[in-house]
Amino acid sequence: MGGRLIPLLVIAAASCGPRPEPAAAVKEAPWVPDAGAVVTAVAPEQPFHFDHTIHAGKYQIPCQTCHAYADHSPIAGIPTAAKCMGCHRFVDKQKPDVQALEAAFEAGDRVAWNRVTRVPDHVGFNHEPHIQAGVRCQKCHGAVETMKVVRMAKPLDDMGFCVDCHRANHAPVDNCIVCHK
Ligand code: HEC
Ligand code: HEC
Ligand code: HEC
Ligand code: HEC
Ligand code: HEC
Repeated sequence: MGGRLIPLLVIAAASCGPRPEPAAAVKEAPWVPDAGAVVTAVAPEQPFHFDHTIHAGKYQIPCQTCHAYADHSPIAGIPTAAKCMGCHRFVDKQKPDVQALEAAFEAGDRVAWNRVTRVPDHVGFNHEPHIQAGVRCQKCHGAVETMKVVRMAKPLDDMGFCVDCHRANHAPVDNCIVCHK
């Protein structure tokens, strides 16, 4: 599979180019290869300040308190401003960042967080089977609780990353349509 994959990735790189994005969405981040196999992407700008090291790190709020769909749907989900205000009606009310959030919430605005992690359109990713099988968020997203700004810390848009773990866990590898629409 490794031998077959390299030409595939070259073709993908040559033929795809930047993926089209709606105007308000993520600026596609350039890849910066690290030492070893791990790659990191520069994170997009976000409309509000949000820090995982405080929420998921210091206060250890469980990931699924905010990303509540991960165990029963394809998407993990991003919390609404109403969800934030459930705590911030009481917590850190005096902080300008929280007041900006509250103003947006009261105006009924949807908080348009920019997407950080994305697989190509021809791939159908689904959180549910992974969470149900006990795969931790950090296996795929890295130590998000240590990231002041979330970035894509693992090569989630590389088929080899998916397939290596599938092979190690007896999850599907050769049934292509499991992952390809
Ligand atoms: C576990 C999930 C998974 C399985 C199983 C899988 N793929 Fe993939 N595949 C991916 C992901 C993720 C990518 C995205 C990488 C990219 O496009 O660079 C990808 C990319 C590709 C590409 C490049 C697509 C393009 O348009 O350039 C081809 C071709 C491909 N896969 C073929 C296959 C074939 C054939 C099989 C079955 C033997 C297969 N894949 C099985 C996840 C999977
Ligand atoms: C208090 C709510 C909250 C908690 C708890 C939380 N997150 Fe988040 N998370 C967010 C918000 C808001 C965003 C969107 C803003 C951003 O990207 O920073 C986000 C973004 C993300 C993203 C990037 C999503 C994308 O666009 O691709 C990942 C991955 C993520 N969180 C994983 C986690 C993990 C793993 C944990 C637990 C260790 C966690 N989060 C805990 C609120 C939370
Ligand atoms: C489960 C409760 C909870 C939820 C939900 C929550 N927060 Fe927080 N938030 C906290 C706590 C606790 C602190 C730290 C309070 C302190 O130490 O003073 C905090 C601090 C903050 C701060 C100020 C600290 C800093 O980073 O500058 C901001 C801004 C903030 N949260 C934004 C958000 C946003 C945006 C959301 C929704 C995506 C959110 N919070 C959801 C509990 C929560
Ligand atoms: C097996 C790898 C894997 C695991 C485990 C995983 N994710 Fe993801 N996550 C992904 C991939 C791949 C994407 C991009 C999906 C796409 O582009 O459709 C993603 C996207 C996201 C997003 C943004 C889009 C969305 O679905 O809302 C958030 C937020 C997120 N993950 C949070 C989490 C949290 C929280 C956990 C743990 C409860 C988790 N993920 C576990 C691979 C994983
Ligand atoms: C860290 C390990 C790991 C990574 C990385 C991973 N997976 Fe998985 N995947 C699993 C496990 C474990 C299962 C559950 C297998 C089971 O239930 O028997 C699974 C199941 C799945 C399923 C459901 C298969 C079915 O039988 O219907 C899909 C689809 C899938 N993965 C796609 C992906 C894609 C796409 C990626 C890369 C973006 C990926 N996975 C990355 C471990 C992983």
